[in-house]
Amino acid sequence: MCNPELKQDISMATNIIHDNSNYKDKYIRHCVIPARGTENATELFSKIDNSFKKCLIVTGSGDQSLEAILYGATEIHSFDINALAKYGSALKFASIEALDYDEFCAFYTKMFPIQLYKKVREFLKGDFLIFWDCIFDYAYNFDIYHSLFNADVHGDLIKFGFSMYESKKSYSKIKDRLGKVAITYATCNLLDVCSHFKEVNFYDFIYLSNIFYYIHQTPEQFSDFILQNIYPLLKEDGEMIFHYLYGIYGRSDTIFGSLLDDIFYGEQYMKDIKDIEDFSTYLDMKKYIIDSSGYGTLYKDKDVALSLKR
Ligand SMILES: C[S@@+](CC[C@H](N)C(=O)[O-])C[C@H]1O[C@@H](n2cnc3c(N)ncnc32)[C@H](O)[C@@H]1O
Repeated sequence: MCNPELKQDISMATNIIHDNSNYKDKYIRHCVIPARGTENATELFSKIDNSFKKCLIVTGSGDQSLEAILYGATEIHSFDINALAKYGSALKFASIEALDYDEFCAFYTKMFPIQLYKKVREFLKGDFLIFWDCIFDYAYNFDIYHSLFNADVHGDLIKFGFSMYESKKSYSKIKDRLGKVAITYATCNLLDVCSHFKEVNFYDFIYLSNIFYYIHQTPEQFSDFILQNIYPLLKEDGEMIFHYLYGIYGRSDTIFGSLLDDIFYGEQYMKDIKDIEDFSTYLDMKKYIIDSSGYGTLYKDKDVALSLKR
């Protein structure tokens, strides 16, 4: 009834729901699905003066691709090391197609009410429909929400950071456009992305989120990897965001706040500052400094996205 890969994905997803302790806080071939993006994409994407028509974007929660659609993306190739990310993204796309704004918010904040899932499934196709029907058949909706998604780590869904959560108008625009967007999903490590995406001079925009944090390379190694493997995929005037860092500049404006930040985030903060400096010695990059999404920081900081233009 279903292909071996889908069968394995369903079986791994049910394992995660049953006991997800081994699948949290790391990115592997089967692990929890990001519930939502954690960047301030609203401000970042609005500052990028570049076409978004053809994109290569990490799948994650699907939110980054949805933001790109708001800016005109019509063809999106997405990839993720986690084979389950594509099901999460497809569920989000289908829920936007199926639900109005208030229902969509309820679907994601009230732990996937089954009455709403019945509407959403009408817009799921092929393997995505088989997968989610099996999962909703296997587990209670609230278990799916809390165990298969990292809803607890990524917190309150309806915060700022992505236009469609902040404004009904953006949600409607994205909803209107979804039917005209071609999106494909690949399961692969960023470091092998070239064996999956061979289209040189193809993309207007490439978005790697903060994968750099997870791949254990130095800025020098990652710069080299990008120049050799990712940069050639961009069109002549294309742009890529190759790293996103949280809570970097304009740190806490109170001594108490700075102290708390140092206790919780001091080491990572110093590493981030050094990484930005190092990247700037290897790449002719641009920095976007934007309001913090609030992820990984306590106070009113600025996030930074590092960009390379072709
Ligand atoms: C980088 S995370 C960002 C999510 C969130 N901001 C966080 O820090 O947890 C977004 C996606 O990248 C994927 N990812 C992580 N490492 C990857 C790698 N080496 N290759 C491809 N995708 C990767 C994860 O599976 C996840 O779905």
